[in-house]
Amino acid sequence: MMNTRAFRNARILIVDDEEANVEVLGRILSQAGFMRLESTTDSREAAALYVQHRPDLILLDLHMPHLDGLDVMDQLNEIAEASYLPILILSADLLPEARREALSRGAKDFVSKPFQKDELLLRIRTLLETRFLYIQIQSQNQLLEAKVRERTRALEEAQIEIVERLAVAAEFRDDNTGQHTRRVGQMSALLAKQLGLPDVQVTLIRRAAALHDVGKIGVPDTILMKIGKLTTDEFELVKLHTTIGARILSGGKFPLLRLAEEIAFTHHERWDGEGYARIRGTDIALAGRIVAVADVFDALTQQRPYKPAWPVGDAIAEIERQRGRQFDPDVVEAFMRVIE
Ligand SMILES: [Fe+2]
Repeated sequence: MMNTRAFRNARILIVDDEEANVEVLGRILSQAGFMRLESTTDSREAAALYVQHRPDLILLDLHMPHLDGLDVMDQLNEIAEASYLPILILSADLLPEARREALSRGAKDFVSKPFQKDELLLRIRTLLETRFLYIQIQSQNQLLEAKVRERTRALEEAQIEIVERLAVAAEFRDDNTGQHTRRVGQMSALLAKQLGLPDVQVTLIRRAAALHDVGKIGVPDTILMKIGKLTTDEFELVKLHTTIGARILSGGKFPLLRLAEEIAFTHHERWDGEGYARIRGTDIALAGRIVAVADVFDALTQQRPYKPAWPVGDAIAEIERQRGRQFDPDVVEAFMRVIE
């Protein structure tokens, strides 16, 4: 069932303290076509040879000075990775007890000395067959796992791409490059990291924050692009973008969309409870408190149809001034450290 070439390429390690035994074994194996043989008469070298040559099969003597066969197997068990390693015991002493002991340490089969050449080769063949099948299954599993990982990654990327484009679509009228959404995402991630949130959460916030104003899709052009002061009624319509955004994103199955919904709904809340929906303090989702700071800072430092860009120093001072009023003091603290 295995092809001959696989057998000939099998790496075999012989560990036997008697030179004569090693020679006989080597000759038999060479004649049978095995070409990659390693051997030692010093069992203390077995572990190092194993690491160096990664044999497919080990022919192991039991009675040896310094380290006996059982000791060698203990060493191999410690260093061998979780792969099936055939160990064939060659020994004159194969009493049931010795067999039991050897089996419990990882021996796969036994041949008594003096051995029959044909029997030895048959057992070697069987062990190698098992070894190669094991390796084959293992590599198939790895291939499958790699495929699953690749598919998962592709799915995630598709998700992220669509979310990014949705954010650009939402702000197309006043930010058709997507720069504002990207910067708010980046600043939010820096704040989240500074606040000690785990990396997975930081990444989610960066992506979800880009969708904070997605609800602007539902605000009329005439209001959104109006130059000059909005009337009270017009401003009420602008304020609807938080609830519209939350509605667009509601019921999402992915954590990214659920977080985006939270942010869309809460990013205009104020720490003192005077925001759009009058949620107060820690009742406001943390992601919303984070994006609130990132969003205002970016809006202040950028030019808008109705206002010039503020100098960065002034914008920082304004954030600082709103500590505990508009903004969560902890987030402002984090912001100051990030800005440094
Ligand atoms: Fe907003």
